[in-house]
Amino acid sequence: MSGTKIILGVTGGIAAYKAPELVRRLRDRGAIVQVVMTHSAREFTTETALQAVSGRPVRSDLWDPQAEAAMGHIELARWAERILVAPATAEFMARLAGGFASDLLGTLCLATTAPICLAPAMNHVMWASEAVQANRRLLESRGVQLLGPDIGDQACGESGPGRMLQPEAIAKIIAGPVAVAETAGASLRGKTVMITAGPTLEAIDPVRFISNRSSGKMGYSLASAAAAAGAKVLLLSGPVSLPVPRGVECINIESAEELHTAVHRSISNVDIFIGAAAVADYRPAATEPNKIKRVRTELRLDLVRNPDILASVAELPRRPFTVGFAAETEKLREHALQKLEQKKLDMIIANKVGHGVGFDSDENAVDVYWKNGQKSFPLSAKAALAGDLIELIAERYAANSSSAGHGTRPAIAIRD
Ligand code: C5P
Repeated sequence: MSGTKIILGVTGGIAAYKAPELVRRLRDRGAIVQVVMTHSAREFTTETALQAVSGRPVRSDLWDPQAEAAMGHIELARWAERILVAPATAEFMARLAGGFASDLLGTLCLATTAPICLAPAMNHVMWASEAVQANRRLLESRGVQLLGPDIGDQACGESGPGRMLQPEAIAKIIAGPVAVAETAGASLRGKTVMITAGPTLEAIDPVRFISNRSSGKMGYSLASAAAAAGAKVLLLSGPVSLPVPRGVECINIESAEELHTAVHRSISNVDIFIGAAAVADYRPAATEPNKIKRVRTELRLDLVRNPDILASVAELPRRPFTVGFAAETEKLREHALQKLEQKKLDMIIANKVGHGVGFDSDENAVDVYWKNGQKSFPLSAKAALAGDLIELIAERYAANSSSAGHGTRPAIAIRD
């Protein structure tokens, strides 16, 4: 991140007291940080502290003639290579979603072409409210990246999702490309990584389908982290509302059969395959050509099994290093180890799903298993977790290549 020009927007939530610490963590990584505060942020932290840690005068007023003469707001918007708003309040998210240019920070966000990241912080009931979630979805569909929020105790005395991520975690995500590239770059640079992501959609008739709650966030975050580590990344994605990460080639598919065909069309040059898609296990035996009418009192659907794409890749005579996911509601370790062995994988990433955890959420906690080894990652934002997972995959890939080499992989024995 050395020399990266970041505008740090600080809005008026209690987590603003952590903003000076965040400035330090960003500057530790070499970033040049220009702080822009909203007026209500002043209730929670001070301009003096932020100026001292950033080493630059803090901006907050759209109508400050002196600051505008030095660097006008349009110039400032062009100067920024990234805009990070932390904490981002519910009010700021609403203003950004609505395109309001009512203060300096809102105006900069509209006038920039730089990527925008928000680290939301608010009471957990506010975070769960329909209005905030609608704004979140709208912002994400426009390419705004959301970091967190974290789950835990809140300033209001309650507990739940709504805490701002810790400054170190935010800085780590923002510095993602370098953080991953330094450690994993050596083994991933010039390699081809194929990642499947999102749900599949199995048509019943022209307007109805069977699908699942996968958001694609884990797969997209892994694609972004692998690209940042220098890999050539091919992302095969089911229908999701996420922007394609920079430097990633994306092929859109709908059904499991389409995904199967797309994977095998390009698999021969792939070094690492990561199956993060939530592939539907079954599809309707036949897709009705016309919309099914509501005439019968009962309707039965015949389903047939979809191909197991991950297992089909692991079975190839010259297979890539193959990584799968196991999303389980119970007996996580047992099921994950079974899958590692049965599907003949090199690694399996196991996560608990259900009750708001794992599938459609922004955070994940996982246990990773491979032959004779395992590592646990605590609950963290999927973007941060993806960097750690790519580092581990790169490490195991390098170890595997130097011992067995692909295509001559030894049989897996699980140590229990
Ligand atoms: O067996 P299970 O569906 O739990 O395995 C999950 C793993 O297998 C994930 O990595 C998923 O992407 C992959 N999978 C697949 N094709 C299927 C079903 C699952 O590639 N038909």
